[in-house]
Amino acid sequence: MTIVERAPAKINLALHVRARRPDGYHEIETLFAFLRDGDTVAVEEADEDSFSVTGPFAEGLSSESNNLVLAARDAFAAAFGPLPRLAITLDKHLPIASGIGGGSADAAAILRALAQPRPADPARLFEVALELGSDVPACLLGRAAFGGGRGEQLTSVEGLAGIPVLLVNPGVAVSTGAVFAGWDQVDRGPLAKGDPLTAALEGRNDLEAPALMIAPAIRDALDMLAVQPGVALSRMSGSGATCFALFDSDAARSAACAVVAASHPDWWRLESALA
Ligand code: C5P
Repeated sequence: MTIVERAPAKINLALHVRARRPDGYHEIETLFAFLRDGDTVAVEEADEDSFSVTGPFAEGLSSESNNLVLAARDAFAAAFGPLPRLAITLDKHLPIASGIGGGSADAAAILRALAQPRPADPARLFEVALELGSDVPACLLGRAAFGGGRGEQLTSVEGLAGIPVLLVNPGVAVSTGAVFAGWDQVDRGPLAKGDPLTAALEGRNDLEAPALMIAPAIRDALDMLAVQPGVALSRMSGSGATCFALFDSDAARSAACAVVAASHPDWWRLESALA
């Protein structure tokens, strides 16, 4: 029997960095939202362990050792007991190291797939997720949420489903650690509570400035998204370099996508909607 789990793209509608912590991480306040599209993982019992990657971004994951999917499998086994031999397939549609949680979503999808036929205490599974990365608990939850702490203190929010989204990546991979390290350590204040869209509109992404220092092409993507007709909000996601725009209609999103495609055919684009 094959278990298939979706690994939807994550975006940060806002991301406020509040403080640098003694453990090297940063205290953040963020609004996680998930898209209807992303990667897919499939897990099947087999005669021997295997891992294969398909899809448009398969080549970006050349080294098995740095893949969070296998780290998630091994962490699950360490926490909940040995696993049978498994054939794992990752269908990779999200660009690597791009601020939309591709690797975190894949890891969370593996944890969900492995937990389906096996008893796994949800609190322990959550801890395993956090050990894999700051965004993995949010991806395990898989629904829009306010995130505090490193991003793991999650409170679900409602009211975002169906909003049309366009993602654009100007073709640069940026390291999350390097972007956080470039934050200027100025606390610009909390993220508003209450209605998530209002909070997002009033919010900001404090990682935009340090990401722009590393990858100036992000400015081109932000400038282009900001002026498209029907845009409700445009911003960089996570530590970049992917930028997103929310639109007031599917038609406006598709028109904007066509404009971006015509002027920057090499930029990665994804037309989707919030889940
Ligand atoms: O948790 P994750 O491994 O995804 O984080 C990658 C890097 O990003 C960390 O090593 C850290 O440098 C930085 N980070 C941070 N504060 C966070 C999340 C990530 O400083 N809340």
